[in-house]
Amino acid sequence: MELTRAEKISLVTGGGFWSTAAVERAAIPSVLIVDGPHGLRKQENGGDHLGLGESVPATCFPPAAGLASSFNVDLVERVGQALGDEARAENVAVLLGPGVNIKRSPLCGRNFEYFSEDPHVSGELGAAWVRGIQSRGVGASLKHFAANNQETNRMTVSAEVDERTLREIYFPAFETIVKREQPWTVMCSYNRVNGVFAAESRWLLTEVLRDEWGFEGLVVSDWGAVDDRIAALDAGLDLEMPGPQASSEKALFASADPQRLDESAARVVSLAGRASAQTEGYDAAAHHLLAREAATESIVLLRNENAVLPLRPEQSIAVIGEFARSPRFQGAGSSQVEATRVDSALEALAARAQVTFATGYGDVAGAVELARGCDAAVLFVGLPEGDESEGYDRKHLDLPATHLELIAAVAAANPRTVVVLTNGGVVSLEPWHDSVAAIVETWLLGQAGGGAIADVLLGTANPSGRLAETIPLRVQDNPSYLNFPGENDVVRYGEGVFVGYRYYESAAVPVRYPFGYGLSYTTFAYSDIEVDATGATVCVTNTGDRAGAEVVQLYVAAPAGPVRTPVRELRGFAKLHLEPGASAVVRIALDERSFSYWDLTTHAFQVAGGEYEVQVARNAHEVVLTATVARAASVTPGKLGLESRVSEWLSHPFTGPIFRRVAAGTSDGLVEGGTSVLDMVGSMPMRRLLRIPGVPVSEGQLTVLAAVANVPIVRGIARLFSRTR
Ligand code: BGC
Repeated sequence: MELTRAEKISLVTGGGFWSTAAVERAAIPSVLIVDGPHGLRKQENGGDHLGLGESVPATCFPPAAGLASSFNVDLVERVGQALGDEARAENVAVLLGPGVNIKRSPLCGRNFEYFSEDPHVSGELGAAWVRGIQSRGVGASLKHFAANNQETNRMTVSAEVDERTLREIYFPAFETIVKREQPWTVMCSYNRVNGVFAAESRWLLTEVLRDEWGFEGLVVSDWGAVDDRIAALDAGLDLEMPGPQASSEKALFASADPQRLDESAARVVSLAGRASAQTEGYDAAAHHLLAREAATESIVLLRNENAVLPLRPEQSIAVIGEFARSPRFQGAGSSQVEATRVDSALEALAARAQVTFATGYGDVAGAVELARGCDAAVLFVGLPEGDESEGYDRKHLDLPATHLELIAAVAAANPRTVVVLTNGGVVSLEPWHDSVAAIVETWLLGQAGGGAIADVLLGTANPSGRLAETIPLRVQDNPSYLNFPGENDVVRYGEGVFVGYRYYESAAVPVRYPFGYGLSYTTFAYSDIEVDATGATVCVTNTGDRAGAEVVQLYVAAPAGPVRTPVRELRGFAKLHLEPGASAVVRIALDERSFSYWDLTTHAFQVAGGEYEVQVARNAHEVVLTATVARAASVTPGKLGLESRVSEWLSHPFTGPIFRRVAAGTSDGLVEGGTSVLDMVGSMPMRRLLRIPGVPVSEGQLTVLAAVANVPIVRGIARLFSRTR
């Protein structure tokens, strides 16, 4: 049935806070689109996107910061399936997640909702989430596209990012998920990217997303991201939310391009058509168990001196800190879930061990007395709710002063002090790190975190989480430090591709714990690496006496090429469960992109020719096995001309030797005080060199040489040579 212009306009502006508009005449239903990434937030009456209003009970899974530490693709997919089941049961068509923005700065207030500082991890885990939820007939909304890496002025700030950095760091998670999973929807971010609002960027929403990556779904605005509805429509934004918006409707009536309006309305119709029928309920108990499994795998054991953990059943344990009794298990803002139930670590520990409790913060004396009288002290500290949230960024990485005071006092009272951290974004472990026996990073664990913490502390679970983000020694060490959160509504991504460990490792800046780090109650050994351009195999052995899981990490180190690259970049990982003494051979795939950089001249990914080192590592800092693989350059070297630099003439396999021979024939070999004149003028365009009196070549000779060098077969040979350069 042909829709009227008014009907089409109503479709592209949203029917309510959380719903699309219906067109009853054409039997197009309204469908529900609700938050969020780690649980359903369906509000019955009205709505807000600040997490203020109440919502129906739903399972609160660990937010992405925790889930990412699991490095477990299969687990994240199962969480996605469970979210899909809950959405279906609540008649929700699209869930607003996953958030795959990169953790550019540890200060971003919303880091708890994002996976990692690494694009590969974000892409693989985000893809698993989308695969899971969409397998249940519920759509994902991949967000926030693009370069939304801070909360400060998120509605207006312009992220100034060069294209290589976008293509290599901020886009790949979106690209992987779009190409592999076809999310039903993509949500554009609030901010501007290089001056243009994401909602109005044709380059982002149409050229990159649709034309290059082949996105077939619908582009929805972040809630309230649209300023100019016509500019947004023209750019490729299909659905404005929330709706209805009288001013947008008026503008669309006046000047919407009919073809664009048709396309966007058709996408809303098709989304409504995809929505599956409501199901009856879901297994809340099973989902709680899954939330517990996910929480267990999210926990990262950072320090365990003298094997103080796991705690032994005969030990008396002082549990200190209100977080043990009243867990903070999710972050504030639009992702806030009304949990079906909440487990506390205190209850879970008390059920299985000899436990006494003190609230801690503000009662240091009581806590110290308790700690002194017990075999071990387990201290729950972290960030209070108001310290991190959607909508604003943090100013520092420190724990509250009262928590720091408590750590110092309890650590002095009991040498077997275990710190259990609750925080969505990274916190500083200084200056107290060395004073405690063990540190357990639990992030925000969702509603079943209490049991998971008890399992890890008591050893019924062997910790297997790894850091998906670096813990720096000082916030000042972070590469974005001087450029975060920007000024005058502009934030410059001056560190380029050197985000997180890419910077720390390249600049040899010491950190407290590197990306990828995490301990286990067992140990793993690596052997027998084999590598080719399509992947690596390696043998992993559990050398301890407990079953456990290892996250095998594969990094690639590129040779010197036309652009500066990080010393290593994660290109693959696999999580492997091994019984004590058992070995397994794991294969991790590599592809063309694993060896590529974004080339600004050709506007494409290219491979620099040379030897690549493929590294198996325990974390971004600790490489255990390496092998090399040679790759040919993917771009034919540019044509030589008088505008080419002297260095290009010198490095060209045809003209280089001729030049060197000419130089050798001169009386001084063109060497001045030990320095080669040719190398000194390497950056000079050849045309300028010719103007220097006494240069022993003429323009005519160079033109002839260039003509020969540019014959296709000679360029082909040059390309082969550039492979080992
Ligand atoms: C957030 C989105 C969220 C939306 C709807 C916005 O403020 O940035 O992530 O999905 O609100 O609640």
